[in-house]
Amino acid sequence: MANKQKTDQWAPTLYDQKHSFVWKLAASIVEILAPQPGERILDIGCGTGQLTAQIAESGAMVVGIDHSPAMIEEARRLFPEIEFQLADAHDFAFHQQFDGVFSNAALHWIHNPILVARCVNAALKDQGRLVVEFGGQGNVQILAEAIECASEEFLGKRLPHPWYFPSIAAFATVLEQHGLEVTQAAMIDRPTPLEGDDGLKNWVRMFGQHWLAGIPEEQHELFLARVDAIARPQLFHDSQWSADYRRIRIQARKR
Ligand code: BEZ
Repeated sequence: MANKQKTDQWAPTLYDQKHSFVWKLAASIVEILAPQPGERILDIGCGTGQLTAQIAESGAMVVGIDHSPAMIEEARRLFPEIEFQLADAHDFAFHQQFDGVFSNAALHWIHNPILVARCVNAALKDQGRLVVEFGGQGNVQILAEAIECASEEFLGKRLPHPWYFPSIAAFATVLEQHGLEVTQAAMIDRPTPLEGDDGLKNWVRMFGQHWLAGIPEEQHELFLARVDAIARPQLFHDSQWSADYRRIRIQARKR
């Protein structure tokens, strides 16, 4: 799910070539959803549609939504038989309700969980289920600290990260206040390998527009090299980058 920037920052090719771990590591969350033939499932922040397609393989009728036109265009190209719609997680509505709402690696881009919870509640049938996984409290803490530190050097001020990484208590409270009873919750450390010696730089190129947008283009490589140098002692071991991912995984049911 793209964040609320004016231009579409997403590059589907870089996403699928270098960051396919986003959906590959998430296969088990589709198993938790356990979609059934004939069910209606909504996938929020579907990206290029890889997990939407896995859900569709079960025989469920799935709709994928994403806020990025580039992602929706690529998802439609890859999976023309599946319905994809351009929509914002804060502000979407469907005439027909869903048996399940699913989301992987998307909700950390939201800025107002209350609006999202309201839309999810309205989208679900009574007793419908919510299965979500995204960055939890402390996610990419070392990585973000390195970028923030470099941003201070390049911009003259420290620009904090833009993501929503809640604790279980904080996110569960929002859901419970909006008619969704939390049935399972976990916080999972998931160190995530980044491909190649440029792995960290590619991650920042893909996900760090919040900082890169404020830095003149001709300084981008210098900035990326600085982030790399700051993070390397903690995140690069045995010739391998490992991002300090931490996932919050929540299951809930509409009361
Ligand atoms: C994540 O999947 O945890 C993530 C991705 C992009 C930015 C921040 C976090």
